[in-house]
Amino acid sequence: MFKLTAKALACALSLSLAGIAQAADPIVIKFSHVVAENTPKGQGALMFKKLVEERLPGKVEVQVYPNSSLFGDGKEMEALLLGDVQLIAPSLAKFEHYSKGVQVFDLPFLFDDIAAVDRFQKSPEGLALLSSMKDKNITGLGYWHNGMKQLSANKPLRVPTDARGLKFRVQASQVLEEQFKAVRANPRKMSFAEVYQGLQTGVVNGAENPYSNIYSQKMHEVQDYITESNHGLLDYMLITNTQFWDGLPADVRTELESILQEVTVAVNQKADELNQADKQRILDAGTTEILTLTPEERAKWREAMKPVWKKFEGEIGADLIKAAQASNAQ
Ligand code: LMR
Repeated sequence: MFKLTAKALACALSLSLAGIAQAADPIVIKFSHVVAENTPKGQGALMFKKLVEERLPGKVEVQVYPNSSLFGDGKEMEALLLGDVQLIAPSLAKFEHYSKGVQVFDLPFLFDDIAAVDRFQKSPEGLALLSSMKDKNITGLGYWHNGMKQLSANKPLRVPTDARGLKFRVQASQVLEEQFKAVRANPRKMSFAEVYQGLQTGVVNGAENPYSNIYSQKMHEVQDYITESNHGLLDYMLITNTQFWDGLPADVRTELESILQEVTVAVNQKADELNQADKQRILDAGTTEILTLTPEERAKWREAMKPVWKKFEGEIGADLIKAAQASNAQ
């Protein structure tokens, strides 16, 4: 009898010790992404980790996995839904299977500049897109800028006919596929980690990226020309698994949200500076000529690519496109 009680006591003690140990274990947030650390997204992830370590010590641990080292862009969304990673920030081009509305950000020549993008993202319509995937267990926590995309190739691209027949790498986005088809080029979907090699080996002849992605992936070393087209946007939605986020202790979630707000402001203030610095680094490297379009040349690209809007108006919604356009005229 005594023996049994002692055993029961020991068992109860070890269970409660395990409970204490468990309660003391930090919540782990894995943040996986596909770009280098010296990019707007890479810097944002590191800043988030630093602030969480300062403000939630012992409570939350952030592990950052850059450069597709944990999951590539084809797998990260699935990993988020399976709970293998808790935070990701895919480019807005990678949401078409989850929210048709988010495709609005891919429409070519929709936003005049990043300030217009910023206004739209902060508008009621832009903010609503953050919660448009709740039924799929995805919660949008904010938008992070990278910047406007530039066209690169191994031949000078001044007018749309220069792109005819060339193979361009595109992200997994039907809108972007149609954008290149509109200038009679051949789009090839390819994951981000494969782009450098694709360009180097000639599997593709060109691509579209902000300067920070071109420079940090050394794409300029395998592209002779960049056309400063600013024809489209590459920004991110920072997302989490809704069930995970809603299951966090309320005080922890509130602190994480306030840290994320701070990081978002910092990323969005710094992104353009980073892109301009990388443009200069590309110029300094001397590998690539950067072409500036005349207003007439740019108008030709716009005219050639704009029919893509109509193709996706039904899926995206005419009102949403109008709201995005309205952010320009201010
Ligand atoms: C791309 O695939 O080109 C981008 O989404 C990479 C990134 O995350 O900036």
